[in-house]
Amino acid sequence: MSADYLSSLFSLDGRVAVVTGGSSGIGRAIAGALARAGASVVVVARREAELAATVDELTADGCRAAAVSADLAAREGVRAAADEAAAVFGEPDVLVSSAGINLRPPMDGLDEATWDATMAVNLEAPFLLGQRFGPGMAERGFGRLIHVSSQQAHRAFVQSGAYGVSKGGLESLARSQAEAWSVRGVTANTLVPGFVMTPLNARLSSDPQRVAALADRTLVGRNGLPDDFAGAAVFLASAASAYVTGQSVFVDGGFSVH
Ligand SMILES: NC(=O)c1ccc[n+]([C@@H]2O[C@H](COP(=O)([O-])OP(=O)(O)OC[C@H]3O[C@@H](n4cnc5c(N)ncnc54)[C@H](OP(=O)(O)O)[C@@H]3O)[C@@H](O)[C@H]2O)c1
Repeated sequence: MSADYLSSLFSLDGRVAVVTGGSSGIGRAIAGALARAGASVVVVARREAELAATVDELTADGCRAAAVSADLAAREGVRAAADEAAAVFGEPDVLVSSAGINLRPPMDGLDEATWDATMAVNLEAPFLLGQRFGPGMAERGFGRLIHVSSQQAHRAFVQSGAYGVSKGGLESLARSQAEAWSVRGVTANTLVPGFVMTPLNARLSSDPQRVAALADRTLVGRNGLPDDFAGAAVFLASAASAYVTGQSVFVDGGFSVH
């Protein structure tokens, strides 16, 4: 009984999900969560070995998973990746945009190349993928657009620079997508991490004093782990979140509320 009830709310059986950045960190944990909840998952990133390791791990667990190697910094790369990803299990019901870069030059040295690269991966790729998949989801009457933003969309923090701007834009993009498509069953929401121990943060993570100070700034008393995003991602991808749209959902141990 409870299994049936939980399944009617949260099961992703029969759904197809595309997860950019699904080969590492937060995206990899989300890809695993969606796959274990029943979705067929295509992970998209550049490095082949990490993609293959992700797919191997999921298929060994009995999940349906595949990979597409693509550079999302180029518009042609995004378009080709979208077509290739949709060719594997069909047009996606769920799109998770987790691929991101944080180059962190101080403002004085923030040049146009860094700005362009940051906007291309963090903001333009989610926009282009939304344009590619959103209308089809709306036509079919179900869709879930899930973006991974950052607390830096909300506050300046360790040289937010172009990165914070791109994430602020990303949360606005989610609201615009929600405005456009929610009435046809397509929700758009953002997951907002605080500080999560992943390769993106290799430099900060290797400084034990900074790591401890950041953990102290949370209410839970520790920094984030990729698996902290599993439950929120399944919720936002599932039937259960049909009336949640245009929202920024903070998964940050309380970092942002004090
Ligand atoms: N970790 C944190 O504390 C934190 C905090 C706030 C927000 N976030 C956000 O969370 C998301 C995931 O970050 P993470 O910490 O999990 O980082 P991560 O472990 O470095 O993963 C980033 C992923 O994005 C992919 N990627 C990067 N550039 C790409 C490109 N040009 N084309 C295709 N794929 C690309 C990477 O694969 P390849 O390198 O192989 O392409 C990798 O799969 C990002 O959007 C990040 O901004 C993280």
